[in-house]
Amino acid sequence: MSFNFDERVERNHTDSEKWLKYRDQDIIPLWIADTDFRVAPAIQHALSERVAQGVFGYADDQGELAKAAMQWVEKQYHWTIDPDWVVPLSGIKPLFSLLQECLLSAEQNSVCHTPIYPPFTQSARNAQRAQRLIPYPLFEQPDFLGTSLPALTAQERLLFICHPHNPGGKSYSREALQQLAEYAEHYDLLVCSDEIHADLLLEPGRRHTPFASLSADSAQRSITLLSAAKAFNLAGLGCAIAIVPNNRLREQIRRAVAQRMPVPNSLGIVATLAAWQRSEEWLVAQRHYLRGNRDLLVKSLQALPALRLVVPDAGFLAWIDASGLQQANPHRWLEQQGLGLTAGAPFGDPQAVRLNFGCCRSQLDEALTRLHNAIQQAYARF
Ligand SMILES: Cc1ncc(COP(=O)(O)O)c(C=O)c1O
Repeated sequence: MSFNFDERVERNHTDSEKWLKYRDQDIIPLWIADTDFRVAPAIQHALSERVAQGVFGYADDQGELAKAAMQWVEKQYHWTIDPDWVVPLSGIKPLFSLLQECLLSAEQNSVCHTPIYPPFTQSARNAQRAQRLIPYPLFEQPDFLGTSLPALTAQERLLFICHPHNPGGKSYSREALQQLAEYAEHYDLLVCSDEIHADLLLEPGRRHTPFASLSADSAQRSITLLSAAKAFNLAGLGCAIAIVPNNRLREQIRRAVAQRMPVPNSLGIVATLAAWQRSEEWLVAQRHYLRGNRDLLVKSLQALPALRLVVPDAGFLAWIDASGLQQANPHRWLEQQGLGLTAGAPFGDPQAVRLNFGCCRSQLDEALTRLHNAIQQAYARF
């Protein structure tokens, strides 16, 4: 079957946060992390059938989500799990604060890389705890392996990793994960590995390695977060899972989730099952398309020395050092040029911006042409 990712889907009337932000302005939205692609046909079909039922009470997936997750991670990552390890969730973001509150004692803290998807650091503030930030110098050393890991104190108990990394678009190699696993073992850390972008490794033949799959030890200290939201463009449907092999840890999390979070959205469950059970062909085609977009972006930015790109190998987000523009606020300056990227400051780097290339190629092309023209005009004097 062929899929048309070149279609320009009209999103102005789809309640889209991404598109509403710049409604009535000539600014191309390349920010928040959803793509502009229509979902896989099997998902659309499953949702239509479910919507036609017309009743939307609290959902009970009767273990279907766990079974589908087990089959998906076995096939995609060669990771064998027990469906009992799966805790269904209505989303991933709230879990960061919830884990700090339910797993850490009052004196204990978390550890996290920076730059990072902002909710990781916000969660420490929400939980009123300190957080140890480990610099991940993406522009100097995009391969995580070899970045130094600091000595910790007994207070630091929970390590957050974002694998593949947002905003860097980098998937951690097995060797890098091994280094993190040894670190976690040395300091006896619990590890929350957010692997929401795992199904979007862009290089053909490359397979995602879950942190928890490294060894029995890493499994027992891990909480792996997964969902179909990014790879299948379902972010508005509220459904995800945590995979927690350790019984005691899982029961603690299950209890906290039951008290504090809504149950997964019933349409989200239907869509996730259709994604994992019947949409792999679409996903492969989408990865191919995203790879083409990534290559176009890389080529285009090579001609703009004021912008330094971390070449992404996973996902549809690109992290760009814009300090060469010599603007106090590069994000704002780009908006003034008609380009709506994500500001780097909340991620930990005010001179960086994040560009979402999960759109049809003609839109990306238009955005890159706009970028070239703006830089040429503003910096012609150089
Ligand atoms: C790394 C990462 N984790 C979590 C989320 C959000 O997940 P959810 O919508 O399930 O809360 C995102 C969204 O961009 C993300 O990039």
